[in-house]
Amino acid sequence: MLKQVGHCIWVAEQPLKFLGLPVGTRMTVILRSDNSLLLISPIKIDANLKQQIDSLGTVKYIIAPNLFHHLYLENCQQIYPQAELIAPPGIESKQPKITISQTFERDKIDFNGEVEYIPFKGFQVYIPPKIATVNEIVFFHPSSQTLILTDSAFNFDRNFPLITQLAARILGCYQSLQPSLLEKIAIRDKEAISKSISRILAWNFQRVIMAHGNIVEKNAKEKLAAGYEWFLS
Ligand SMILES: [Fe+2]
Repeated sequence: MLKQVGHCIWVAEQPLKFLGLPVGTRMTVILRSDNSLLLISPIKIDANLKQQIDSLGTVKYIIAPNLFHHLYLENCQQIYPQAELIAPPGIESKQPKITISQTFERDKIDFNGEVEYIPFKGFQVYIPPKIATVNEIVFFHPSSQTLILTDSAFNFDRNFPLITQLAARILGCYQSLQPSLLEKIAIRDKEAISKSISRILAWNFQRVIMAHGNIVEKNAKEKLAAGYEWFLS
């Protein structure tokens, strides 16, 4: 079910487990002034959700926001074969059946200023037993003053199952907008992180949507700055 969170921006959510923990996942839908839609981090699109999406506009872009959120790209491309699929470098080895129209960082992708983005340089995650590159792309939607993150910050709270709350407390991302210990121990290039977060904080956003956690509606910039203080010190 689509839920409007701001001017020309909606989200849809579905259950998802990561490392056995129920963390949920979230897709963001943005409507541009030409009536075209961007689907960022698509979830499984059933008939109901498709009907709601189609009532908003025409899907023009399917966007993989990093190397981990690729599970439903193929399903989404089958449903919207006319849409351009844009992904970070490296996604082709994870989803060999999809057709990629453009690649972040290789192609100059222009959303007419209605959506801006930067690659989150230096961002990595430790998924035992190895450190993985994420290639996360961070998006900004000026007209709703919304920042769209995927795995670069979480915000788990009491709306999540107890086991997830416990894990989030241990991993340092319970009721706070920040990456978990798994990212903190994986990140080596703090300078790159510092530059990226400075660029992100220069955007004029009030709200943060992330893939896993509760959307932050107030003081989001201050909360994100505080959540990344560890990397900036
Ligand atoms: Fe994720």
